[in-house]
Amino acid sequence: MLKIEALTKIYRQVAAVDNVTFDVPAGQMVGIIGRSGAGKSTLLRMINRLTDPTSGRIVCDDVFSKSVEVSALRGRRLREWRGRCAMVFQQFNLVPRLQVLTNVLIGRIGYRPTLPILLGLFSEEDRALTIRALERLDMASHALHRADALSGGQQQRVAIARALVQQPRILLADEPIASLDLRNATIVMDALRRINKEDGITVISNLHLLQTARDYCDRIIGMRKGEIAFDGRPSELTDSLAREIYAVGDGSEDEVVMAFSATSAVASH
Ligand SMILES: Nc1ncnc2c1ncn2[C@@H]1O[C@H](COP(=O)(O)OP(=O)(O)OP(=O)(O)O)[C@@H](O)[C@H]1O
Ligand SMILES: [Mg+2]
Repeated sequence: MLKIEALTKIYRQVAAVDNVTFDVPAGQMVGIIGRSGAGKSTLLRMINRLTDPTSGRIVCDDVFSKSVEVSALRGRRLREWRGRCAMVFQQFNLVPRLQVLTNVLIGRIGYRPTLPILLGLFSEEDRALTIRALERLDMASHALHRADALSGGQQQRVAIARALVQQPRILLADEPIASLDLRNATIVMDALRRINKEDGITVISNLHLLQTARDYCDRIIGMRKGEIAFDGRPSELTDSLAREIYAVGDGSEDEVVMAFSATSAVASH
């Protein structure tokens, strides 16, 4: 169980995340939705500790042998947390001129010295782990290609393989399909769901399309102006509740229309 307790992040006197509290049981697939600036990325970045909270706590009781206050971790324990709580991003964040294989091996850096990995020297165990991860994402045949020779969808699958070799218990995804076309978006979302189901890895993903969250997630959290405006099963999220999450009150409906867009929604699997 991951417990988020009264988590707050203030930037220049404005709360990007405002007193947010929720629990995520192990193995759940959660979609976080909300308009631009609602605080979705800030929330994920605090969970991964890329950003420090202004106040509040993050507690996790099933990733390490005992319950830990994630928000208080430092040094080696913090690096271990980042390993167990892997993250993928909209822009994939691969090293463009390195081979796919090496990019995935970089996921082992939390466990191994960095230099041998960057030189392409790695143990048989790491090599096996890497190949298996690439196979699961149907990317093993690209192992020796440079990352910058791949399509966006392929790059995201490599980024997910890199996250997998971290042997995470939690996978955070910040708009993982926002830069992809429909076909690749479907492949990537299917992969995340399969990893969630087969490995029991908790997946928490920011998603810009409501329909994607409906199609793939066990639970949807709607954020509005830093606060939680909805938290429930997809079936409980009515259109009028969804409109409230995306509403701004200034007459601007652009994002509502975009979030509801059926044409660009990822096809249901
Ligand atoms: N490093 C930062 N410095 C200052 N303000 C920030 C920083 N990061 C985020 N913010 C502000 O915090 C608020 C929430 O931003 P955040 O990126 O979390 O939103 P989001 O829901 O992920 O939006 P999007 O859908 O556009 O990705 C915004 O008002 C943003 O301008
Ligand atoms: Mg964001």
